[in-house]
Amino acid sequence: MTEDCWLAVDRYITDHLVSSDAALESALQVSAAAGLRSINVSPNQGKLLFLMAKAMGARNILELGTLGGYSAIWLARALPAGGRLVTIEVDPTCADIARQNFLREGCADRVDLRVGPALEVLPHIEAERLGPFDFIFIDADKVNYPHYLAWAIKLSRAGSLIVADNVVREGAVADATSRDAAVQGVRRFYSVLAAEPRVTATAIQTVGVKGYDGLAVILVTEGSEAG
Ligand code: SAH
Ligand code: DHB
Ligand code: MG
Repeated sequence: MTEDCWLAVDRYITDHLVSSDAALESALQVSAAAGLRSINVSPNQGKLLFLMAKAMGARNILELGTLGGYSAIWLARALPAGGRLVTIEVDPTCADIARQNFLREGCADRVDLRVGPALEVLPHIEAERLGPFDFIFIDADKVNYPHYLAWAIKLSRAGSLIVADNVVREGAVADATSRDAAVQGVRRFYSVLAAEPRVTATAIQTVGVKGYDGLAVILVTEGSEAG
């Protein structure tokens, strides 16, 4: 099984099930033209986020790691009228592009984009009582995943769903000796997750246009007071 095969199948799935549209395509084009890295979720992954958020009726969504706003647009599309997406991005250049993409998509009124390091922004989100969030997508710097998981649980209620991207890292996650700080961050994330009594979780390996990686899905079973 080669990467060519993964690409062909992702294309096949996307051609059949993920209708392309101008706003999503232009979000990627504008991001690429501005020199942003193409590390957004794939179209079929974006649709998976949309389906999960939609299926649970999420009205209040939190995202860590906006990039150019591609996954945020998928998440915003899952919101009912009056719903809100808060998305956090450290890089002001990315945030500017994302803002343009939200305007073009027509979701800017539903998206609250915060610029800064997530660990500095999250306490403000808590202080402003913007939670609890129904659905949380963790996709910022992998080194801080253990902290993001703790914050996600803090800003959740019983029944909230947390999804974390990039939890397999080409299989490196199973290598305890890895010197990659991102891999060690993701490994600590699993340790925290395993020891956390307020959640039940799994993770799934994925292949496709994003290479070999994976997604964690975490159901919060016990709410936090701060949520
Ligand atoms: N969710 C996006 C992709 C995010 S890529 C999509 O699928 O479309 C990861 C993003 O996290 C990058 O834009 C990076 O700038 C951002 N990031 C990295 N460190 C961060 C931090 N400490 N706080 C917030 N965002 C961060
Ligand atoms: C990287 C980040 C991501 O969120 C992703 O999905 C793929 C790669 C990265 O920082 O390399
Ligand atoms: Mg990612």
